[in-house]
Amino acid sequence: MIEVRDLTKRFARHAAVNGIDFNVAKGEIVGFLGPNGAGKTTTLRMLTGYMPPTSGSARVAGFDIFRQSLDARKKIGYMPENVPLYDDMRVREFLKFRAALKGLGSRDSRRRVNEVIDTCGLDGVHRKMIKVLSKGYRQRVGLADALVHQPDLLILDEPTNGLDPNQIRQIRDLIKRLAENHTILLSTHILHEVEITCGRVIIIDQGKVKAQDTPKNLVAGMRAAGKIQAEITGDPAVIGPAIQRLEHVKRVTHEELGDGWTRYEILVESGTDTRERIHELISQYGWPLRSLYRKDATLEDVFVELTRKD
Ligand SMILES: Nc1ncnc2c1ncn2[C@@H]1O[C@H](COP(=O)(O)OP(=O)(O)O)[C@@H](O)[C@H]1O
Ligand SMILES: [Mg+2]
Repeated sequence: MIEVRDLTKRFARHAAVNGIDFNVAKGEIVGFLGPNGAGKTTTLRMLTGYMPPTSGSARVAGFDIFRQSLDARKKIGYMPENVPLYDDMRVREFLKFRAALKGLGSRDSRRRVNEVIDTCGLDGVHRKMIKVLSKGYRQRVGLADALVHQPDLLILDEPTNGLDPNQIRQIRDLIKRLAENHTILLSTHILHEVEITCGRVIIIDQGKVKAQDTPKNLVAGMRAAGKIQAEITGDPAVIGPAIQRLEHVKRVTHEELGDGWTRYEILVESGTDTRERIHELISQYGWPLRSLYRKDATLEDVFVELTRKD
């Protein structure tokens, strides 16, 4: 459904997107992750034909998105980062206006507007002015707009950004329902959402793809590396480096908990469990220890590990 090849976008001398490659197959839900400024929005804007690339190519449903932009766009429902809505229009009126812009005739438009109002749970507000809607409802209007021309592919740029937990859950449930008969590429920074919703994840940073796999495989790869957590009292400037010097320890970070306690997160190499050595070290110096355990990695750990700047 999507084929991206060596796609690059430069702004002046800065490459916001720097030679990325990925595919999305029909029916997949793919999470597009990356820290702020990674190049997610720039990539999605190129895919949806809103911005030309500096080099490289992309096809959607077999259409080159630059040379066959109109054909490609018919297949895409795009919900941009900041949904541009007309505040002084009523919800139904806005959706009819958008349907007409997208080339639907009046009969199709009436039918589709009714359908998307139903799908997106807008029945209660379709006569309201957009400006009085909550952020959650505005996002639903944005989704209804993306859906109105019955596209096969949905490209959603941070659809839950700025929503409260209840609204996030509602949008997530709606996206899951849409996934039954759409292909979805979804950018987000809520990693927990991705673990629930997406079959596959693409992680980008500084304009490059850092990893792409199922959330399960990404986490499994990380889990092999292993993470140990310990709470110890004493001077972190002494204890941190002492742990760091142990064999198989890759990285130590710490966080002060108050009352003199410090929590250390210790990343160890694949297939090793250094808890015994850490314990030996701690008893040798007589530092009080109140917990020492192995933690399961999460998608968040994978994300942090792949996109760390230090
Ligand atoms: N129109 C633009 N002009 C110049 N720089 C831009 C423009 N749009 C984005 N950038 C830069 O490109 C980089 C990627 O931005 P963006 O794609 O918005 O990242 P993300 O959506 O992952 O947060 C950032 O460094 C941003 O400042
Ligand atoms: Mg963005």
